[in-house]
Formats: sequence, structure tokens, C-alpha cells
Amino acid sequence: MTNADLEKLVDTSDEWIVSRTGIKERRVAPDGMAVSDMSVIACERALEAAGMHSHEIDLVILGTVTPDFKLPSTACVIQEKMDLPNATAFDVVSACTGFINGLSVASALIETGAYKNALVIGSEKLSSVLNYKDRNTCILFGDGAGAAVLSASEDGSGIIGTYLKSDGKLRDLLWIKDGGAVSPVNAGYAFEGDDKINMSGGDIFKVAVRQMCNAAVEVIEKAGLTSDDIALVIPHQANIRIIGAISKRLKISMDKVFVNIEKYGNTSAASVPIALDEAYRAGRIKKGDHVLMVAFGGGLIWGSALVKW
Ligand code: UT7
Repeated sequence: MTNADLEKLVDTSDEWIVSRTGIKERRVAPDGMAVSDMSVIACERALEAAGMHSHEIDLVILGTVTPDFKLPSTACVIQEKMDLPNATAFDVVSACTGFINGLSVASALIETGAYKNALVIGSEKLSSVLNYKDRNTCILFGDGAGAAVLSASEDGSGIIGTYLKSDGKLRDLLWIKDGGAVSPVNAGYAFEGDDKINMSGGDIFKVAVRQMCNAAVEVIEKAGLTSDDIALVIPHQANIRIIGAISKRLKISMDKVFVNIEKYGNTSAASVPIALDEAYRAGRIKKGDHVLMVAFGGGLIWGSALVKW
């Protein structure tokens, strides 16, 4: 869906969207394609890249806020579709930091020795929770999926630090109010857009810049490193101006920051793994590089993960 397509739906313009967000296009999954279906494609490509068979996976963690069903977890649906008989599978509901939270949990569980090979997925069908009459939100978000395989390593490579934080006091800055147990959407529900994403963009912007920087500094310093040691930053793709502000504050130049927001918009939990995959396949990541992932989203919630490749 291009900005020109959105001009036909709401009072907006390509010029406004590009200059305020950096977004030119976003992907919209067709009817009948659910988060599990997009995830399967991402998982198959991740397993192929890792040279691994599905039966070797013993842990599946999916970050999503747009599950196929309320019950069971979509990770269990993926387990069945992907033929992962030796795994335990569950979802994490951490909005745009879903992949980072998933990485953190998978990494910790692998460190205990209880699990060996994890599939960590970020996947969203945000088009299913967008109000295409609300120009504040419908221009920003898109659908997509990304996945990574994590395995135990002994050579010092891998996830060397993670940082997770949230502030539930700010939960109504970005939320879907209706449709849960507190405010069910039953027959006779009068649609007012409260069963779709509502967002106070300007308030979130400021917190996003501050807390993504904090999250980045926390993992970098804890690892005994400085910004100069970071070869590549994979930030959550929410707004090119947020990404630019982070680059400036962290003193990491934009040529070390991966950006693909123009093609996909904000895909929430899928944003970081899609960017990681594109960066890797484009040859932007070499053995031994320190790669910093950092994200921010509804909760409000934020987090980072530092990887030695
Ligand atoms: O995934 C993580 C969570 N989400 C985020 O990180 C989002 C963070 N926030 C943002 O990215 C930005 O705040 C937005 C892109 C959402 C909005 O940009 P902004 O520069 O903060 O614009 P604004 O909300 O202050 O709006 C400026 C003007 C307003 O008009 P007035 O009141 O100045 O007359 C809006 O009504 O732009 C108007 N506007 C639009 N105009 C054309 C808002 N949306 C649109 C639109 N097209 N789509």
C-alpha cells in the first residue's frame, strides 16, 4: 500500500508522510493470511539460513499483538504448521519490542542448558487492527514477519547483553481499548475505533527517543564497550526522525544504522527481525561485529539486545 493509496482513504499527502515519518510504502497481508502463515515463511528461511532441521528446534517464542486466535498462542499454531515436535512454544505480548523480549527470554533459557535451539519470531498483521479512517495511525503501520535461530555457542559469540524495561502508567498512549475481557466487543458494539489502534504520537515520540537511547547505553556500557565499538544498529523502524535523533544522541553515524522504514512502515514486533535479516543478507554484518538492536512500543515498553556476531 503506497502513500498515494492512503491519500484516497484519509486527508493526508505523500509529502506529509515522507517528511514526518520516512515511510513510502507498507505491506498489507491479504484476507486469509494470518500471522502464523507469515511466520512460517520467515521460519523456513531462518532454518534454511541456519542449516537446521525443524526437529532440532526445542523452543519457539513469537512476539505479536495480532495473534491468529485469543487461544491458543500463535506460537503453538506455528509449531504445528512448521512440524516442530520437539519444541515448547509460546507468545510474548510486548508490542514493538516483542522480538527483543523474545531474544532475551530465549537467550536466558538457552544459558540454563535446558534448551539448545530456539526459533524467535516477530510477526504482525497490524492491518487487522488499524482504523483506515484515522490518519494518525493508518499511515504508519504495516504487516510482516521475521525470524531468527538462536543456538548455544561456546566461542563468546551470541547475545552478550539485553535490557528490558516498561512503564505501564503510559499504557493508554498506544493501545487497543476494546475487545479484551474488560471491554468486550459483543453483538451490538457501536464501532468508534476503540477496537483498533489508538495512539498519541507526539507524546510517544519524546519518550521513544529518550528510552531507546537509555536502553542502548545500558547494554553497551554493561558489556564494557562504547558507541565506537558498535558496527551496526538495528533500530525499531517507527519513524525516520526517531532513528535520526537516536543516531545523533548516541554519536553513532547514520551509515552504521540500518533503515528500511520506507518499504515497510512500522511492523511492530516484526520490524527488528526484518531489518536484521535484510542487513545480514546485504552483507552489512561480519563475523565478530557488535550489532545493537533497540526497540520501543506500546506498554509503554522498550529494550535492547547486543550481539557479538
Ligand atoms: O511503534 C512505536 C510507537 N509509535 C511511535 O513511535 C510513533 C511516534 N510518533 C511519531 O512517529 C509521530 O509523532 C507521528 C508520525 C505519529 C506524528 O508526527 P508529528 O510530527 O508528531 O505530528 P503531529 O502529531 O504533531 O501532527 C502535526 C500536524 C497536526 O495538524 P495541526 O494540529 O498542526 O493542524 C496533525 O493533525 O499534522 C497533522 N497530521 C497529519 N497531516 C497529514 C497528523 N497525521 C497526519 C497525516 N497526514 N497522516
